[in-house]
Amino acid sequence: MDLGVEIKEQGKNYLVNYENASGWMRSLSRLIEDEVVFSLKDARELLKQKGDAVVYEVFNLWKTIPKVREMSEKTGINCDITVLNYGVISPSDSGELFFTYGHRHEKEYSEVYTLLAGEVFLVSYEESRQKVTVMHMEKGDEVLISPSSIHRLHCGRNGAVVAGLVPKEAGHDYNVVKGRGMPYSVFLKDNKYEYPKNPRFKDVELELSDASSGMTLQSFFDTPDEVKKLLGMK
Ligand SMILES: [Fe+2]
Repeated sequence: MDLGVEIKEQGKNYLVNYENASGWMRSLSRLIEDEVVFSLKDARELLKQKGDAVVYEVFNLWKTIPKVREMSEKTGINCDITVLNYGVISPSDSGELFFTYGHRHEKEYSEVYTLLAGEVFLVSYEESRQKVTVMHMEKGDEVLISPSSIHRLHCGRNGAVVAGLVPKEAGHDYNVVKGRGMPYSVFLKDNKYEYPKNPRFKDVELELSDASSGMTLQSFFDTPDEVKKLLGMK
């Protein structure tokens, strides 16, 4: 799928380039300030030792890339990409992997994430069922996010680039994560992944799964009405 964006590797991370590229970024200090990290102690120690870091950057392709803007205007679906950097929120090599803040949609619309580069874990929390699914994604994989879930991405052993398709009207509620984080996190410990439970939550079930590849991002350009249906739009 060619979105008109150049993705370059730089060490463990990815750089995104296209004409008139502009994005907004989320820093480690903000994640600490809002208490959405697993261990505030480790996070504050890391910040003290190494200074602030860009955890992720979001680029609104629907604002700048002509063919994406055209489809976005036609369908009412936004197309963004998130560049999630690699990092561990700890002064040691082991700890919580860098993540996106996490949110729930204000209106009950689905969203499709497609992994363009790297490796990620999608953490999806269904509060009404007290259940978390952690889904491992590799390049080319896509996931349909359920309308009521609170969702967040963690990087794997590298950074990642994720494309998202979501109705413009969906909205973002970050308050459902603020001050508590998510019931489960993703850690790298002795070079292995772990999924520790957040003590701020009680009795939440955890399921691990793998994502599979999909063509929804291509369908956005070829058969947009099908994508609208998939996302719960009329
Ligand atoms: Fe979302």
